[in-house]
Amino acid sequence: MTSNSPAAAGAAGAALITGATGFVGRALVAALRRGGRPVIALSRDARSAQSRLGQDVRVVARLDEIAPDTAIDSIVHLAGARVLGRRWTDARRRTLLASRAGVSDRLLALIQRLRQPPRVLVAASAVGFYGASPGGSFEPRDEASPPRPGQFQSDLCLAIENEARRAEALGVRVVLMRFGVILGRDDGAYPMQALAARLGMGAVLGSGRQPAPWIHLDDALGLVRFAIARADLAGAVNAVAPDTRPQADFAKALSRSFGRRVLLRFPSALLRLAMGEMGDLLLEGQNAVPAVAMRAGYVFVHSSLDEAMSDLAQKAP
Ligand SMILES: NC(=O)c1ccc[n+]([C@@H]2O[C@H](COP(=O)([O-])OP(=O)(O)OC[C@H]3O[C@@H](n4cnc5c(N)ncnc54)[C@H](OP(=O)(O)O)[C@@H]3O)[C@@H](O)[C@H]2O)c1
Repeated sequence: MTSNSPAAAGAAGAALITGATGFVGRALVAALRRGGRPVIALSRDARSAQSRLGQDVRVVARLDEIAPDTAIDSIVHLAGARVLGRRWTDARRRTLLASRAGVSDRLLALIQRLRQPPRVLVAASAVGFYGASPGGSFEPRDEASPPRPGQFQSDLCLAIENEARRAEALGVRVVLMRFGVILGRDDGAYPMQALAARLGMGAVLGSGRQPAPWIHLDDALGLVRFAIARADLAGAVNAVAPDTRPQADFAKALSRSFGRRVLLRFPSALLRLAMGEMGDLLLEGQNAVPAVAMRAGYVFVHSSLDEAMSDLAQKAP
């Protein structure tokens, strides 16, 4: 099959989304609702989530509010504290892991309680699974490439994936979405970068040679829906566009989309001083390639960086 069509899902039950109030979650809920799919959303603040997501979504603050006879066809696990933001102190590292693993644990308990287990669990991971590629190496990383133990981003992704894989023993198909940086108009990394680029403050980070893996939000959602629909898809999926470029080229494409040029450069030492190990996310990316998605016949809506940038720039408020 070479179609991205979610019609292939053949599902009657609800989709349960954790992290439904987040950047990806909000857009996913809207897309599923537009397709007529019932949605159950988990949020720590059910009242605020209900008003943000709309009245046609069932919002729960705890998974044990879900009765065993509830028909849940698929689960998408997106919840977790933000990785890029606060400095990775020991306490923050524990929060990043516990916020994801805690929800995974409770999802497992729910799956065991449900009379009919869901067909599929799609869990968010990241290309950080492959660790940092030192020196701006463009060696391709497909889904069979190993993790890099000892690097926090890799250890975190591996732990998230191992937690999610526990559902396989309960007869659930598990798909691990290794997202690159997701680019969307309203949230995530793009709006701040776009603002800087618009103001003529687009910047090369470090050498600028490091790969900057990205995916347009349309395709992040497209791949999640593809993974739900395709019964033959399981395991890791690199959720990145097939056009990863060096960060300097990425910055130029972004600035160009606003008719500007890149004039600034942030030295690596400054970024590392400011961000600690978290700076690796910006200074040492991975050339992740979407081998599994392409082999499975997923057709990217935005496969070229320049086209994706001009699409986002046109939609920018
Ligand atoms: N955005 C990207 O570029 C990107 C790249 C790679 C991987 N990912 C991964 O993809 C997933 C979705 O990303 P996103 O950008 O949509 O994330 P997001 O906007 O930060 O949303 C995550 C959601 O998780 C819940 N959450 C936050 N802190 C939590 C905590 N301490 N404990 C439990 N739940 C918590 C929140 O929902 P409530 O407040 O409603 O509970 C929040 O809306 C995340 O796991 C992220 O790490 C994202």
